[in-house]
Amino acid sequence: MSSKVERSSFSSRLGFVLSAAGSAVGLGNIWRFPYLAAKYGGGIFLLVYLLLVLSFGYTMIVAESALGRRTKKSPVGAFTHYGKDWMFRFGGWINAVIPILIVPYYSVIGGWVSKYLYAYCRGEVTALAGDDYFSSFITSGGKTEFWFLLFSAATMFIIYMGVQNGIERVSTIMMPILIVLAVAIAVYAVTRPGALQGVSYFLVPNFRNFSWMTVVAAMGQMFYSLSIAMGILMTFGSYMKDDVSIEEATRHVELFDTAIAILAGLMIIPAVFAFSGGNPDVLKAGPSLMFITMPKIFASMGFGQPAGIMFFLLVLFAALTSAIALAESAVSTFEDELHWSRKRSSLVVFALMLVLGSLSALGYGPLAMVRIIGMQLLDFFDFLTNSVMMPIAAMTTCLLIVRVVGVNTVAAEVTKDGAPFKRRLIFNFMIKYLCPFFVAIILFSSIASL
Ligand code: PFF
Repeated sequence: MSSKVERSSFSSRLGFVLSAAGSAVGLGNIWRFPYLAAKYGGGIFLLVYLLLVLSFGYTMIVAESALGRRTKKSPVGAFTHYGKDWMFRFGGWINAVIPILIVPYYSVIGGWVSKYLYAYCRGEVTALAGDDYFSSFITSGGKTEFWFLLFSAATMFIIYMGVQNGIERVSTIMMPILIVLAVAIAVYAVTRPGALQGVSYFLVPNFRNFSWMTVVAAMGQMFYSLSIAMGILMTFGSYMKDDVSIEEATRHVELFDTAIAILAGLMIIPAVFAFSGGNPDVLKAGPSLMFITMPKIFASMGFGQPAGIMFFLLVLFAALTSAIALAESAVSTFEDELHWSRKRSSLVVFALMLVLGSLSALGYGPLAMVRIIGMQLLDFFDFLTNSVMMPIAAMTTCLLIVRVVGVNTVAAEVTKDGAPFKRRLIFNFMIKYLCPFFVAIILFSSIASL
């Protein structure tokens, strides 16, 4: 792929929805959402999450894509389009830097998924279901580093070769398969003895499980899962044609992303109850949840090996398409803002990935003694981006729209396709008052929780 000479645009109406959904559906839905829901209150987490997606998430997707389509620029350009002083540059860069910090540790988890896929291909169905398999793997150092390198090299190879179109076409085939498989596994998991307790824990809100951290975690997850507050949707918006309805596209992306997250929750949380006798400590397993419960489900099935291969293949695919979107946005920031060639930008992003990712890959093993603010390195990068930087990035976008661009300009952009701006009042209220207020509180409580 040559470096961008003129701004391309999505060819079909579906282009934006597919690309935004492809970047949205990833490890965040299948790996991150279930463990956060399990840890932060089950049904009450789900309720808070849904409310946030419909109000805050909706507002941010509309705002970012409208800004991108209006300016025809990715985040740094979109902000500096409206002013050149440091505040605009800060707003643009903080949005642009987040994907650069996420993609290294995202690739570490992508490496874990690759390793599991490989182990299923070799038929290690029973060994994978063992209690210590996951912990001995992630503390090994060398093995996690190897699989991380493999995953990152695959991501960067695809970016460098520019076969994104091929990937996009394949994702339209893989995503429906992922849904069918997720439904099948969820049905199997939910019908295990003892699993119903897990279904009700996950779906029925219980206010006794509510804590302020429920809101903080749900909001970080919403940013992460919908790929908002990191400039991605400004870039996608800049490729969006004028006849596409921003509101309708937003609804489709949200529906798709949330449906997959809920399905993943239904696959994993009831299974945790079925296999642990409802022991609540297992729910706090955190990042390891998917890697521990899914192998137990597969080992209990008659056809565990093909199911394991299919599952991890599809998760790998979802991870790869998201990693490509993250790395692509990092590369295009360097291309657009520093005017580097595609080759140079890709190499620099790769180098950053190797350094930061290796720290995360080794952080549970040889570097376990290195802790930043009490966290292991991978958890630290996750916390830094989701709980600190994304709220700041969201705040800069709200301020830019309210103070500089103006909500009426956004409305003009949203109605360009001829349809009315249905949720205009909600949008105005959210972006002016509730979003900045929420974001400020989240930011303070994240910092205070340290
Ligand atoms: N939304 C992705 C997920 O849930 O896994 C993470 C992500 C991918 C964020 C791509 C941003 C992005 F550009």
